[in-house]
Amino acid sequence: MTAPAGATAAATLSPTPALQVRDLVVRYGSGRKARRTAPAIDGVSFDIAPGETVGLVGESGSGKSTIGKAVLGLQPPTSGTVRVHGQDITRMSLKQRSRQVADLRVVFQDPYSSLNPARTIGQTLVEPLALMGTKGDTAWQKARRGLESVGLPGEAVDRYPSQFSGGQRQRIAIARALVCDPKVVVLDEPVSALDLSTQAQVLNLLADLRDQRGLSFLFIAHDLGVVRFLSQRTVVLYRGQIMETGPVEAVSQAPRHPYTVALTSAAPVPRPAEQAARRAAREALGMGTAGAAAASATGCPFVPRCPLATDVCAEQRPPLRLIDDNLTACHHAERVPAL
Ligand SMILES: Nc1ncnc2c1ncn2[C@@H]1O[C@H](COP(=O)(O)OP(=O)(O)OP(=O)(O)O)[C@@H](O)[C@H]1O
Ligand code: SF4
Ligand SMILES: [Mg+2]
Repeated sequence: MTAPAGATAAATLSPTPALQVRDLVVRYGSGRKARRTAPAIDGVSFDIAPGETVGLVGESGSGKSTIGKAVLGLQPPTSGTVRVHGQDITRMSLKQRSRQVADLRVVFQDPYSSLNPARTIGQTLVEPLALMGTKGDTAWQKARRGLESVGLPGEAVDRYPSQFSGGQRQRIAIARALVCDPKVVVLDEPVSALDLSTQAQVLNLLADLRDQRGLSFLFIAHDLGVVRFLSQRTVVLYRGQIMETGPVEAVSQAPRHPYTVALTSAAPVPRPAEQAARRAAREALGMGTAGAAAASATGCPFVPRCPLATDVCAEQRPPLRLIDDNLTACHHAERVPAL
């Protein structure tokens, strides 16, 4: 079954999604050269329902952060729309967003560069509140409560970022993101810079906060294992296009797209038998590695690496089709061996 024209890459679980991205195209640069090069994001659509986490995965350079930046207004889209609870914010300036859009916030990867070292934690936390009109004691009380909600003492408002570890700084960044009570949070690799045990603590904290507050997350990660922990659905991105999307277990356990097979077999899993099965599936496909080979401008972007590629793959961009539980953009998805 082919997804209907304009269909989302994911089931809409609510009449008004918390976040809706439609036909997003992002080109970096300007002028003729920019128009000749492939866009960083090429026609991406997905929804996130209230309270839902969607994991966005793909290898480095696939465009994950570009989607996050377009959603946040940090990179203007070439075309397409971004809506938060139905409100079209695609062309809203950062200044307008900071005053009018309390519902959308972000946590970045690097806890060292994302906090201003010259400001106390309290100053960092009250700033977004002031922009939304909450000032004085009320703002400082909210800042203290925000720190407590991420497992830090309220009196940490008087300290500076340098007095905290990486994991603690990431908790502070989460407190800053949540202090205005947003409903949608973009998490761009929020645990990638942390050691493994701190990663687990921060992921657990994010899951608890999401469940307590009914938050929606766009959760960006390289690692499918991390995505599986936090997400209900996942979107697999390659060269700025969605290759596959569906329930996270279905996509990671029963991928229908050759690229997802490559990605899942590369991600370490704790069970050796499962890991061996994945490696065997990847070898059976004879998968190439990420290379500089140019993607086909008209067809599937995975052609240069795909062992199943035929002429039609180079000629026609495969639409997303429902195969079992997943929407898959592959002409030959039925030939992909089961993991
Ligand atoms: N500011 C920029 N100017 C020009 N090209 C850019 C810019 N930022 C990203 N790109 C290009 O856009 C593409 C997508 O980059 P992006 O950072 O979104 O990927 P990513 O999936 O987040 O990668 P990573 O996993 O390494 O963070 C890449 O080809 C990258 O080189
Ligand atoms: S459409 Fe063709 S090239 Fe693309 S992933 Fe499927 S088989 Fe491979
Ligand atoms: Mg990135």
